[in-house]
Amino acid sequence: MTRLALPDDLPLVAALEVESLPADAWSSDYLGRAIAGELPTIEVWVSEDLTAYAVVSVLYDVTELQRLGVRQDARRSGAATRLVRDLAADLAARDVERMVLEVRVDNIGARAFYDRLGFRELSQRAGYYADGTDAYVLEWVIR
Ligand SMILES: CC(C)(COP(=O)(O)OP(=O)(O)OC[C@H]1O[C@@H](n2cnc3c(N)ncnc32)[C@H](O)[C@@H]1OP(=O)(O)O)[C@@H](O)C(=O)NCCC(=O)NCCS
Repeated sequence: MTRLALPDDLPLVAALEVESLPADAWSSDYLGRAIAGELPTIEVWVSEDLTAYAVVSVLYDVTELQRLGVRQDARRSGAATRLVRDLAADLAARDVERMVLEVRVDNIGARAFYDRLGFRELSQRAGYYADGTDAYVLEWVIR
């Protein structure tokens, strides 16, 4: 099951964030504000077993997938696929039409994951990341 994160989930979500996206991890404080609904447009979602999380920004017909991670020992078992599909279904029911995201060109695993889900390349952004790495901008039509 996929659900919105609750305040009690913060320690595990913050741990997943550091484990998954260590180069630019959001702070626990910032994630706590996101979970509390204090950041406009931002929603934090988790799998019921708290092995996977996602953060989206929802703006009218478009959502941006800002963070996505799965605990290392739970990867390649479909957790992220279930989470993102459940999330997309919830968003589509709210009239959101497209999901977009940026992914590092050197993140081969994530690129394979998004490709398998049905994301397509929209554009590239040169030097998008702090270390100078380029980004692909991907889009998935969810509705
Ligand atoms: C990318 C990530 C979220 C995928 O989560 P996951 O739960 O392991 O993904 P799934 O099990 O749902 O994978 C579904 C399919 O995607 C592809 N895939 C997923 N991870 C892959 C990898 N590392 N290498 C190649 N293909 C991969 C495979 O086709 C996989 O199906 P298969 O296992 O039957 O071959 C996870 O590896 C992760 O947390 N990475 C670190 C954080 C990150 O990079 N986030 C994205 C930032 S843009």
